[in-house]
Amino acid sequence: MLTELVYCSVATRIMTMEDLDGLLKLSREKNARLNVTGILLHSARTREFMQLLEGEKKDVEDLMRVIEMDERHTCVDVMYQDEIKTRSFEDWSMAFRPLDEMDSKLLEGYTTFNAESLPPALLNGRTSRARSMMTTLSKDL
Ligand SMILES: Cc1cc2nc3c(=O)[nH]c(=O)nc-3n(C[C@H](O)[C@H](O)[C@H](O)COP(=O)(O)O)c2cc1C
Repeated sequence: MLTELVYCSVATRIMTMEDLDGLLKLSREKNARLNVTGILLHSARTREFMQLLEGEKKDVEDLMRVIEMDERHTCVDVMYQDEIKTRSFEDWSMAFRPLDEMDSKLLEGYTTFNAESLPPALLNGRTSRARSMMTTLSKDL
């Protein structure tokens, strides 16, 4: 059964381009082996990550357990996980977008993803906004 999972987190320190390149290179190799696909977003400004992982349920869940333990980030918060029929990022072992350069319209309603720093009004509907943002991104690569 195919599943899709989206989480957000906060980098424990500033991620340089080299840090991100290294992280993506290793992730792409491992994801290709696991047949896991998706997209990683990172904001240098807020240090936040948001990542969508898609693949066989067990592979995604096992990988998520590894990612969760990674000391390069903290406040790991799974926003949603759902069964899917088809992949949105099937050509990408891990696509990457710098969040700071993203269309402000796409980010509407978001100044940050992190639940701990979000006001209650923004927390409402956070999942559906994340979902629609990811859908837009998948059509835009
Ligand atoms: C924000 C973030 C996203 C990550 N995404 C992935 C990923 O998509 N695939 C992956 O294999 N590792 C990813 N990692 C790295 C894993 O946490 C882990 O270091 C890597 O899978 C190697 O694990 P292993 O040494 O147990 O094989 C990510 C790490 C961070 C901080």
